[in-house]
Amino acid sequence: MALVCVEDFEKKAAGQLEKNALDYYRSGAGEQFTLGLNREAFRRLRLRPRCLRDVSRLDISCKIFGEQMKWPLGIAPTAMQKMAHPEGEVGNARAAGKAGSIFILSTLSTTSLEDLANGAPDTIKWFQLYIYKDRTITEKLVRRAEKANFKALVLTIDAPIFGHRRADVRNNFSLPSHLTLANFQGVKATGVGNAAMGASGINAYVSSQFDPTITWKDIAWLKSITHLPIVVKGVLTAEDAVLAQEFGCAGLIVSNHGARQIDTVPASIEALPEIVKAVGENLVVMLDGGIMQGNDIFKALALGAKTVFVGRPAVWGLAYNGQKGVEEMLSVLRKDFEITMALIGCQTLGDITSAMVVHESQYAKL
Ligand SMILES: Cc1cc2nc3c(=O)[nH]c(=O)nc-3n(C[C@H](O)[C@H](O)[C@H](O)COP(=O)(O)O)c2cc1C
Repeated sequence: MALVCVEDFEKKAAGQLEKNALDYYRSGAGEQFTLGLNREAFRRLRLRPRCLRDVSRLDISCKIFGEQMKWPLGIAPTAMQKMAHPEGEVGNARAAGKAGSIFILSTLSTTSLEDLANGAPDTIKWFQLYIYKDRTITEKLVRRAEKANFKALVLTIDAPIFGHRRADVRNNFSLPSHLTLANFQGVKATGVGNAAMGASGINAYVSSQFDPTITWKDIAWLKSITHLPIVVKGVLTAEDAVLAQEFGCAGLIVSNHGARQIDTVPASIEALPEIVKAVGENLVVMLDGGIMQGNDIFKALALGAKTVFVGRPAVWGLAYNGQKGVEEMLSVLRKDFEITMALIGCQTLGDITSAMVVHESQYAKL
């Protein structure tokens, strides 16, 4: 049977992945309230379609930092993709390239950034960074990303430590022994978790390596060592968005890390309006979290995001059928977005207006 929506890919992946990996990919933090909210909040928004507007020729292309995208969707950084499929990050990035999407490589990838660059030379690539206690580790990653032709650095700012993902603690989740964190030669990144202390194996690695003392001043440091545009990922408040602007970031991703860090934070789409209001004129505002269908993409753009990213949907495509699976998932999502655009009466992204999306409470008043 044809796979016609992201949920279909999710179901296929769930049938194929081992429990350890499946739980790692799908979990959120705490009791997973925000995990559900990331999707639910999109449903609380209503579309206001406009009719009779000639939608015979759609153009959904856009430019981000001067790079041409075929449509406003990219692939968010997700760690350890070879656990999903042997083609791992290269398969995912090649699929992104074919679809004209940006691919963001995680620091915690199972493919090194050089191998990724060689394997997917035609894809627009950004590199996601964590700041290590040992700053020379971070600095070396920056140099390697520059050399390998990555176009931007995405600094994840919502993870000074990792969130409490209950399933990972129960499973004492660690990277399977045949895989390594490929950006660090020979590093297994397992660490021994301690369920009694509420820590999985991966959390043990993170707390031993990542620097929880980082502050906005570290953005100034990062800016001083690179000319690549810096995007901060994990902004949920107008206050932090303003700081991102003050510290010279080129863009930000409104994100709650796929609800994996702290539970009961708002859905990304709920946080978007205050952030766009605060800095939307000056920074490239982007969003990830809970995007599952074309109308989710549309709603994020109508509320001011310049592009959106998907994390888990790409992992589901990859687990289902490697690069081909991601290509198929992206093509389903793109088609769905095109249908949304046409039926709301928009030929280009410039035709999308904030009046086309309202909160459900608007109708409840009637
Ligand atoms: C399995 C998994 C691993 C992730 N690993 C990283 C990571 O290494 N670095 C990072 O900045 N974000 C990471 N994220 C967060 C994603 O970049 C993104 O914010 C999130 O997946 C978006 O939500 P979605 O899965 O609903 O699309 C991860 C998310 C998942 C699901």
